[in-house]
Amino acid sequence: MSVAVQETLSVSGIILARTMGRGPQLVQHFARISGDLAKLEVKSHTAGEWQWSLIGFALAVLPAFTLLVGGLLMKTDNPATIGTLVAMIALQEQLLWPFEQLLEIGRDARKTRALFARIFEYLDKPVEIVERVDPVVIPRKAMRGTVQMEQVCFSYENAHRPAVNNVSLTIPAGSHVAIVGATGSGKTTLGYLLARLYDVDKGAIRFDGVDLRDMSFDTLSQMLGVVTQDPYLLHASVAENLRFSRPEATDADLIAAARIAQIHDHITALPNGYDTLVGERGYRFSGGEKQRLALARTILRDPPILLLDEATSALDTRTERAMSKALDDMSNGRTTITIAHRLSTIRHADLIVVMQNGRIAEMGTHDDLLAQGGQYAALLRGN
Ligand SMILES: Nc1ncnc2c1ncn2[C@@H]1O[C@H](COP(=O)(O)OP(=O)(O)OP(=O)(O)O)[C@@H](O)[C@H]1O
Ligand SMILES: [Mg+2]
Repeated sequence: MSVAVQETLSVSGIILARTMGRGPQLVQHFARISGDLAKLEVKSHTAGEWQWSLIGFALAVLPAFTLLVGGLLMKTDNPATIGTLVAMIALQEQLLWPFEQLLEIGRDARKTRALFARIFEYLDKPVEIVERVDPVVIPRKAMRGTVQMEQVCFSYENAHRPAVNNVSLTIPAGSHVAIVGATGSGKTTLGYLLARLYDVDKGAIRFDGVDLRDMSFDTLSQMLGVVTQDPYLLHASVAENLRFSRPEATDADLIAAARIAQIHDHITALPNGYDTLVGERGYRFSGGEKQRLALARTILRDPPILLLDEATSALDTRTERAMSKALDDMSNGRTTITIAHRLSTIRHADLIVVMQNGRIAEMGTHDDLLAQGGQYAALLRGN
């Protein structure tokens, strides 16, 4: 039910429902789900309840039964005294009470086990990406930022073809590489592999000569900063969103990062400035503003390798140009990998890699590729 509420009552959900005219159907859908949930609740509260009633009934009848037996015993030749009978009943009460408690615990345990079965189902799932026992740790000062990919292959589970197929690429520290290619050609997947969100099936990826699988998670996250295609902002203030990447950052650090991402002026113009609440219940930033906030957040970490996956796609060309200039100015030896559809933005990259169906179709500088008259030239003509 909370998924249904999230989907239909969130701002994007309402916009979708309104523009598609699906309001009444969603109300029906919600009514059906809450009906199902109500039935389930009733069922869970009444399951095994008749057995429990029988036990309760038996326990309530027992004292009466004792009285009956006692009464009968009084009529015999060797009659029991009233005192014995009262003592018996008192004793019985004392014994029945803990017995009742015990039964109740049994009932609760049964209910809880049913709920825990669902939790354990998740806990029992094998962890796919694990840190090595003695991982390689590289101090921030020693990081240079070279990236090597060696015959990297990767397929998603149940996919009929590999998303990344035999990709080999060496990126020297401090250079700017652009990855372009048709939609679905495996660019984002390649980025996921660099961030080790998935492990490669074959081949290897190395940062500064260290295989990602040997690197500590901490080193990896310091080494690579990622701005994803659809940035996610927390429901918190702008400052808290930025500090998520580096909690100890000073206000001056925040402002410097926001300046590079070309968002500082916009934030200061807001009534609450850096304390403005972000998210559905707070200030709603535009697509391009969100991208710039996400970029500022990553810049704040100051990683030696920066991966931008369509991170500036929602910006107008002037803002984008100002941003890439600011990025270049502060890069001092930072390796930048840009995934882009807008070819005008990557024209000056040191190396342009064109991907097609998970493979590298061609690579070179803008001028080389243009002269070759292959894929890149075709993409450029189509732009
Ligand atoms: N989780 C997944 N499970 C199965 N297949 C996936 C998954 N994610 C992506 N794919 C598939 O892998 C291929 C490569 O996807 P990827 O997201 O890397 O493309 P892309 O080059 O980034 O495209 P775009 O330019 O549209 O962002 C696509 O065919 C896609 O459908
Ligand atoms: Mg993508």
